[in-house]
Amino acid sequence: MKLHFDCNATTAASMEVVEAMLPWLSRPGANPSATHPAGREAARAVQRARDQVAALIGARRAADIVFTSCGSESTATAFHAARHRADAAGRPQRAVISAAEHSATKKAAAARFGDAVTTVPVDAGGALDRDALSAELAAGDVAIVSVILLNNETGVISDLDGLGEECRAAGALLYVDAVQAPAKMSIDVERIGCDLLGLSGHKFHGPRGVGVLHVSGDTDLPALIVGGPQEGERRAGTENVPGIVGFGVAAERAAERATCAQARAEISARRDRLESLILDGCPGSSINGDTTRRAPNTTNIGFDLGGTGLDATALLALLHDQGIEVSAGSACNSSRMAPSAVLLAMGRSEARAASALRLSLAHQGTPDATSMADAERCAAAVIEAHAQVQALIR
Ligand SMILES: Cc1ncc(COP(=O)(O)O)c(C=O)c1O
Repeated sequence: MKLHFDCNATTAASMEVVEAMLPWLSRPGANPSATHPAGREAARAVQRARDQVAALIGARRAADIVFTSCGSESTATAFHAARHRADAAGRPQRAVISAAEHSATKKAAAARFGDAVTTVPVDAGGALDRDALSAELAAGDVAIVSVILLNNETGVISDLDGLGEECRAAGALLYVDAVQAPAKMSIDVERIGCDLLGLSGHKFHGPRGVGVLHVSGDTDLPALIVGGPQEGERRAGTENVPGIVGFGVAAERAAERATCAQARAEISARRDRLESLILDGCPGSSINGDTTRRAPNTTNIGFDLGGTGLDATALLALLHDQGIEVSAGSACNSSRMAPSAVLLAMGRSEARAASALRLSLAHQGTPDATSMADAERCAAAVIEAHAQVQALIR
């Protein structure tokens, strides 16, 4: 039997989401821009999804929700907006990002700002160094600050309260990559005070190929994709009505899970059991990331592989053979076993960073749901794989 422990990479859309989407895949005339009845019905369905997303992130105005194609597009649009702002400033401007950002952010920053990208450190637990960020803002000429809310590799949650106000005072835009946050924590755009915030449907049992960019009311957002007047002229292209409807339903469920003590207790109990079994069964293993500010579904564990140059690839091969799907560090880096840049930024050695496994679980009531028995079976397989690698190197 296959076990999926890679839910931070992607999740399966829930049946409720699929059922809500299905009629919209084949409904004639479902173009929200059209003025005929079928078009108006589609526009209402999109509006409902906008309301559901606004509720998920505590947004005051549903009109501030812009649907995109994915989290990466939302991030790219934020940096496009920042570039416009920088060009208008008439003097050199920089982007400031944290050392724990996803590759979508690092690459969008480099694409728009070249060498003018400053990276702010994180501490050994993965927490953003807010003092270092404040110092960069005080130094001036910052067009955009981009920070991740919940880290995809470690699950560590950043403290971003009030950061928007600080950025605004320094004349910088604040973009928050909240792609991993839904269902794992409550999100409050007003408390963060960010100008822009990105989400992606496939990370919380919505469909792939739909993202969101929340654009706070007074933020100027030049469209990255130009053409028709969709999304208030902020993102052209005929709306993906089925995907947007599915996103809305998934958002509603994610909001419930984030605030439900039982849902949180269930998933964290399975994660904690998995984690403690692995730590007990694999001498020299340890958790990467601050466990006091962490998503309830994620653990990132580094192993002692004996300093022989062996890395997590060896563990992955053995686990995948047993039908257990996990990833090493970030999923996007798994085919190349470069040590995770996030773990290096947290001060782990190259060998330790390259040994890490990321195990991410899914809530009960979802297609990927992780049971306690799944967690125990996965832990046993990791312990066995670790013992085999240890035997190889002795
Ligand atoms: C933290 C984070 N940001 C951005 C993305 C990109 O999202 P998408 O796959 O929807 O483009 C991901 C996906 O792995 C992610 O984990």
